[in-house]
Amino acid sequence: MNKIIILTGAGVSAESGLETFRSEDGLWAQHRIEDVATPEGFMRDPDLVLRFYNRRRADCAAARPNAAHQALAALEQAPGHDVLLVTQNVDDLHERAGSQNVIHMHGALNLAKCHDCGHGWPAPERMSVSDRCARCQARATRPDIVWFGEMPSQMARIEAALQQADLFVAIGTSGQVWPAAGFAQQARMCGAATLELNIEPTAVRGDFRDGRYGPAGEVVPAWVEEVLRR
Ligand code: OAD
Repeated sequence: MNKIIILTGAGVSAESGLETFRSEDGLWAQHRIEDVATPEGFMRDPDLVLRFYNRRRADCAAARPNAAHQALAALEQAPGHDVLLVTQNVDDLHERAGSQNVIHMHGALNLAKCHDCGHGWPAPERMSVSDRCARCQARATRPDIVWFGEMPSQMARIEAALQQADLFVAIGTSGQVWPAAGFAQQARMCGAATLELNIEPTAVRGDFRDGRYGPAGEVVPAWVEEVLRR
């Protein structure tokens, strides 16, 4: 069994029309991280934070999986390959393309939770500051997104997979956010081959043995086709 661990970032959903974070006019050029992606920002102005993620949930609902999402789902379904897809994305385009073995290490737009008691439930289309938690009744409901200063999800499972991987592939991520930024080096130290697929070489290109460059909708299907032919 060929054990492949794939890390995806915003670039894999760019051709589906979803904005990335760190491009010149990306989300972090339009919004301050401290305001919309930290627990402190949520405590200060929950309405602003909920509106930011309501907008992103609506964008996600209007988007469709692209050829990159579809190729990764086909790879997972092919015999002989054990594929774990770890995504930093909070959209559900991998699942809608058919991927099943997916970890959302930065959370998911379609899940909500209570900031006070941790109770979770499927997110409504629009979350509001007047919503109450069904368990503790607090008016502190938030999207189940991992904000800066919070612990990413399922790290133990990811670490175990990195140790056993034959191949680690990063797709459409700038490699600027930890702990995901350390995965390539971790996998490499444990003996895996490493590959970066991106529209252009990133600042962390040196962490990877190989790289292929172009839009995800082109380079990902071409790479998957090659793996399936081997
Ligand atoms: P970034 O916006 O930092 O990086 C997106 C990457 O995708 C860049 O390297 C682009 O060059 C590349 N890219 C853009 N369009 C592409 C395309 N069509 N095909 C292939 N690559 C393309 O987004 P992430 O690396 O995902 O976290 O950001 C990581 C985390 O930072 C996010 O999960 C988010 C953010 O803060 C939280 O909100 C907690």
